[in-house]
Amino acid sequence: MGNGGRFGKYGEQKRMDRLRQARNLPLSRTTAGEHPPSDGLHRRKPRRKARIAIRPAELSDEAFIRSLSRKAFQQYGPYEDLLPNWFLSGIGIAFVAVLGKRTAGYAMLERIPNLYTCPRVSELLAIAVEPWARNWGVGERLMEEIIRKANLLLVERLVLHTAVDNLPGQALFRKHGFVANGVEKEFYPEGQDALMMQKEMG
Ligand SMILES: CC(C)(COP(=O)(O)OP(=O)(O)OC[C@H]1O[C@@H](n2cnc3c(N)ncnc32)[C@H](O)[C@@H]1OP(=O)(O)O)[C@@H](O)C(=O)NCCC(=O)NCCS
Repeated sequence: MGNGGRFGKYGEQKRMDRLRQARNLPLSRTTAGEHPPSDGLHRRKPRRKARIAIRPAELSDEAFIRSLSRKAFQQYGPYEDLLPNWFLSGIGIAFVAVLGKRTAGYAMLERIPNLYTCPRVSELLAIAVEPWARNWGVGERLMEEIIRKANLLLVERLVLHTAVDNLPGQALFRKHGFVANGVEKEFYPEGQDALMMQKEMG
């Protein structure tokens, strides 16, 4: 969501809040009387209950995955192409989250080729939530679904890469049992380093 344009930063926010009210979605944090985040690790007040549904991604979600990947990951490389391609080719198993009536986020898990692959290690390829839907528990629900699916697929270890400066992402992963196990220098196509994290399942 851009901050410029004819609405300006706060005009745009009011416009989004009117849309949210019309669609029964929660108001943004700032107009709900809370302070805007000052940095990536702003501690949030407990969220109110939001209506979040998770479903497997369908082919028609490709455009959504592309558009959100652009917003969330374009500074790291051509992920707006890579992630939809991984989904369409079957490399990744994707879920989407619906908040109210709007598609709000997705997560993608690497598919293990077959039942007899050993050891059963799978990578969380991506998790992203639309900027307008953040802080309402969507990331949380997507992580729960990824872990549920990994258990169903008998995954023994979940691994992931995330940018070393992505503190909100790392907080989400730590909350779900991931621990850091190294840094991979210049992991991303644009040259950023990645923190490697893993979670033992079971
Ligand atoms: C990281 C991301 C997926 C979180 O999604 P979200 O829907 O806003 O997260 P939730 O509201 O469900 O929060 C779940 C947990 O994530 C962590 N978290 C999320 N945002 C945070 C923030 N700004 N600061 C600190 N921790 C945060 C917390 O542990 C939080 O639990 P808590 O509320 O009990 O403290 C979202 O910010 C995003 O899409 N970022 C861009 C893409 C990205 O960085 N993905 C991760 C790397 S692949």
